[in-house]
Amino acid sequence: MSTPQFDHPDVVLCPGGPMLLRGDHVIEDPDGVAHRTSRPVSAVCRCGKSGSQPWCDGTHKVIPRANARP
Ligand code: FES
Repeated sequence: MSTPQFDHPDVVLCPGGPMLLRGDHVIEDPDGVAHRTSRPVSAVCRCGKSGSQPWCDGTHKVIPRANARP
């Protein structure tokens, strides 16, 4: 059985960083507020430290690797 190959996956989990979403999506934050993506590729924070939740603002880059999600 072979692994399927995709040119452009819709969701990419970046090690220690955000989840990249390709295309139009609606993201619900922990408060239940819906946020619509507005870019061809949107970065959703997975570290919980972004100052612009639910979007990644690059803060994960300064978090010690031991505290980051894989
Ligand atoms: S994943 Fe980038 S700031 Fe959280």
